[in-house]
Amino acid sequence: MADERRPLLSVQHLCKEFPVDSGLLGRRFSKSSVSAVKDVSFDIYPGETLGLVGESGCGKSTTGRCIMRLSRPTSGKVIFDGKDVAEMSKRELKGMRRNMQFIFQDPYASLNPRMTIGEIVSEPLIIHGVMTDATERTLYVQELLDTVGLNPEHINRYPHEFSGGQRQRVGIARAFALKPKLIICDEPVSALDVSIQAQVLNLLNDLQQQYGTAYLFIAHDLSVVQHISNHIAVMYLGNLMEHSDWKTLYDRPMHPYTQSLLSAVPVPDPDLQATRKRIILAGDPPSPIDPPSGCRFHTRCPIATERCSAEHPELREIEPGHLCACHYAAPNPIKGSSIEL
Ligand SMILES: Nc1ncnc2c1ncn2[C@@H]1O[C@H](COP(=O)(O)OP(=O)(O)O)[C@@H](O)[C@H]1O
Ligand code: SF4
Ligand SMILES: [Mg+2]
Repeated sequence: MADERRPLLSVQHLCKEFPVDSGLLGRRFSKSSVSAVKDVSFDIYPGETLGLVGESGCGKSTTGRCIMRLSRPTSGKVIFDGKDVAEMSKRELKGMRRNMQFIFQDPYASLNPRMTIGEIVSEPLIIHGVMTDATERTLYVQELLDTVGLNPEHINRYPHEFSGGQRQRVGIARAFALKPKLIICDEPVSALDVSIQAQVLNLLNDLQQQYGTAYLFIAHDLSVVQHISNHIAVMYLGNLMEHSDWKTLYDRPMHPYTQSLLSAVPVPDPDLQATRKRIILAGDPPSPIDPPSGCRFHTRCPIATERCSAEHPELREIEPGHLCACHYAAPNPIKGSSIEL
């Protein structure tokens, strides 16, 4: 059944090509652009999380940057809170940025080393002219530091005095300072130790419950988004391959690529884990400068046929709310095939 609520964010047929210097490429490539994002569409509803998952280089960050209008899409639309981001005036764009914040992957690179954490967290408030009274602002920032699990007395310390996990908490406090409607979390735990990852994910979950913020949560593996996402979209070489609510995607993947990603996710039950077979794909993803014909996944897909290299599979609804871009979409397609694992 179609969702009748208005999405907070609607990404419609987003495409992004980057020009490349063809002189650097030699004769191997006839094209002079990188097709980083190709016809990507999804919606995010208020207070919900969409997990966007795929291997490095598949176009996740570019999608996030186009949504923020940090990068101009080649075509397609981004609608935020009912307004087309490309058509926003400077003033509207500023209003949008107040409601759409970013948390970056690398907590070491994304915090200015010369600013105290108090200055870092206050910066969005100052830019947007919110809370102009300095004393009030300091109290608020201390409260925010406390909320994200940092000691408010450390407000005058510098980023280098904190661990990676603590620095990411500073980045989270900064992103929440304006109580935005949406936060684009671009691999926020990828650079952290596994033991710290769960703490940061729990914090993001708690803050979402508290403030009703929506997330676009970008990750390169499915285990990270498992406990945080309402919906999951799987991306490969710029294309969306599968999209559904998280439970359906984990229980009944319909795309061979999703199934291979899921086979790498550990399950808590040791008996079940012992019966699981890891589906390892051959090779690396091809270059987006010269993507494969037909289905972009065909060069690595264990069940590809001739049709796959000739015909592009559209992302289509296989069952209500479950979209998949595969000619042979079926529950657990690789396991259901005659291929020996
Ligand atoms: N500014 C740019 N100029 C040229 N190519 C780019 C640029 N930014 C990203 N790309 C290319 O676009 C593709 C997608 O990159 P990215 O969105 O960063 O992927 P991900 O975040 O999934 O790792 C990659 O092939 C990358 O090399
Ligand atoms: S369309 Fe073909 S190559 Fe692409 S995922 Fe489906 S079976 Fe594999
Ligand atoms: Mg990225």
